[in-house]
Amino acid sequence: MELIQQIGKMRAKARALQSTGKPLAFVPTMGALHKGHLRLIERAKGLGGSVVVSSFVNPMQFTNEQDLKNYPRDPAKDEKACRDAGVDAYFVPSVEEIYPQGFLTSVNVGYLSTKYEGASRPGHFRGVCTVVLKLLNIVRPTHLVLGLKDAQQFTIIQHMLDDLSMDVELVGVPTVRDADGLALSSRNALLTKDQRAAALCIQRALKRVHFLVKKQGILHSGELLQAIRSATNTEHVTLDYAAIVNRTTLEPLDHVMRGGTYILIAAKVGDVRLIDNTRI
Ligand code: PAF
Repeated sequence: MELIQQIGKMRAKARALQSTGKPLAFVPTMGALHKGHLRLIERAKGLGGSVVVSSFVNPMQFTNEQDLKNYPRDPAKDEKACRDAGVDAYFVPSVEEIYPQGFLTSVNVGYLSTKYEGASRPGHFRGVCTVVLKLLNIVRPTHLVLGLKDAQQFTIIQHMLDDLSMDVELVGVPTVRDADGLALSSRNALLTKDQRAAALCIQRALKRVHFLVKKQGILHSGELLQAIRSATNTEHVTLDYAAIVNRTTLEPLDHVMRGGTYILIAAKVGDVRLIDNTRI
């Protein structure tokens, strides 16, 4: 595995990997790699070509200085994890490399970026899309591999790729969960033991919705959202939003549309913001 810090060197390595004619899969991350990231890398490797992973804690997508400062970092462990996973190139640029002095451009995917996560964290998706587009332009992969835990991010990036006629296929990987059901997230490392136990109510709420839809035939969003509010009304947890939305447009739905719905939840557990979702 080659560890690369400069854009020029990353481009050169990516060109060499592309010259094999095989797929070049790219997995962008913000480091603090966990089993969920390893699953993304596994999926990327499964495409049968080379794999580039980037690790960059992107300041542009943080809307709060403290959140950026507290974001978990473990560069040595991440590098080893990528090496062990058989990654071909590991791109770890500095902030100055990605955003040199005078950097002015940003990418905004319209109204999709202002809902849910975008409403709670204004400017967040502008940062995500800007860095993802920049990384894609550096690596020029055939495939971009992202987790489906960040459902809104996934939808917005798909929209950006379509709008800008990007020649890259987006591959979504289902959320990886701990044995007790908590969706893996780098932020879980910031939870205390009690907060972690409390955070399980998010997954329980999503399961409850599945039960109500599948076993009781309840499709009315109002009723399902009420069930989420009850299930998450517990110590340490403050629900930020729960939404039942069309998977493509992210528009709220009055009724669950089987096969095309996301149930989105964001909650603060102590000071740690967690998101999760399920598809119905
Ligand atoms: O999902 C993430 O980890 C980040 O938003 C991403 C896609 C790596 C962009 O910084």
